[in-house]
Amino acid sequence: MRIRRCVTLVIEPRERIEFDLGVLLAGETGVVSRLEWVALAPHLDDEQVLADVEVAALGAISPTQWADREALAQRHSDAVLDGLLAKGLLVGEEATASDDAAARDAALRGAHWRGLSAVAHRFGRWRGIDSNEVERRFAEESDQSFAERLGPPPPHVLERAPAEQRLGLPAAADSPLEALLASRVTCRNFDRTRAVTLAEFGTCLYRAFGARAVSEIAPDIRILKKGSPSAGGLHVTEAYVLVQQVEGIAPGLYHYHPVDHALEPIEALAPDAAAYCARRFVAAQAYYAEAHVQVILASRFRRNFWKYRNHAKAYRAVILDAGHLSQTLYLAATELRLGAFITAAINEVDIEQAFGLEPMEEGPLAVCGFGPRAAQRTTIELDPLGAMWPGGTG
Ligand SMILES: Cc1cc2nc3c(=O)[nH]c(=O)nc-3n(C[C@H](O)[C@H](O)[C@H](O)COP(=O)(O)O)c2cc1C
Repeated sequence: MRIRRCVTLVIEPRERIEFDLGVLLAGETGVVSRLEWVALAPHLDDEQVLADVEVAALGAISPTQWADREALAQRHSDAVLDGLLAKGLLVGEEATASDDAAARDAALRGAHWRGLSAVAHRFGRWRGIDSNEVERRFAEESDQSFAERLGPPPPHVLERAPAEQRLGLPAAADSPLEALLASRVTCRNFDRTRAVTLAEFGTCLYRAFGARAVSEIAPDIRILKKGSPSAGGLHVTEAYVLVQQVEGIAPGLYHYHPVDHALEPIEALAPDAAAYCARRFVAAQAYYAEAHVQVILASRFRRNFWKYRNHAKAYRAVILDAGHLSQTLYLAATELRLGAFITAAINEVDIEQAFGLEPMEEGPLAVCGFGPRAAQRTTIELDPLGAMWPGGTG
């Protein structure tokens, strides 16, 4: 049998702080620090704790050259090799269909991820997180207010020259764009007494995610022209849609086809199942779970990395693409007097399961949404100029 190391592996020396009653009873503080090696391999779902001998073996086995197991066994014990194979950090050449780690390692090799980006992506994902619960626990840990605990933030603006040296610039003239930008306010108050109309729905999706043209720049290489810029014109970010309340469209999960400007049904959902998904996707942020439409921005990494192979900037560029799409959705919704939002506090794993996405191929990066604004404000919004709420907030 021939073996090699998985393609991407970061080993983090981590300190785990634990409370130990035995240590407390022995007259000490009860707080114990444990140091351990943690393997972060992005073809695997979970982190793995390593023994020193395993770390040494992983450092001595090539991730590219296959080595005979018998030869490796001269330098590493069978227990170490078997343990690392079982953990999926070493993979065998003759992988069977059931050898999931080897298959996933092979897929990751073909996707051309930059190693550190792959680690950051895989291990930055959440499953079943309830952000209210996290906030509650943070509040319970101390009597001090948020500001008292954290101290003041860095200043709200950076000043690199004294006021008298600043070169004043002409004011921006009034314009439709100026008015639109001034009225963009992240919405946390949706009106569920009425549906999004089909016209509103189609307009928002088209303006934010629709392709205005397809260019064939070389045989078999097509790029899209949209209302937002995209690295390489590749437009790798897909819009997956969770419909809760849209006129004429059943609640459920869909994929938006940007060229045909059409919805592709993935799964029909009863209204309460759609509400459950909506809450789950945005980590239980109730105000965003109320949105009539959620749009999950999920990027097809392989398409970007096809061009930007193992590139230090590629993952960043993909995330920047998603930010542009979100702002365009905000502006499209705002022009129709609808509310819009974006959140990065999302349960990626739950979203992947719902839509059938493989995380290192097509990863949810953010959830946006839109719908009619409520007449009454029950949840805080940042509207100091009173663009949406008379008197303003924040
Ligand atoms: C990348 C990103 C992530 C955000 N995540 C959250 C979030 O998790 N929860 C939330 O309530 N708002 C979230 N927001 C919205 C911001 O809170 C909001 O933009 C900010 O308060 C400023 O308000 P404005 O958009 O009305 O100017 C996010 C915004 C961005 C751009």
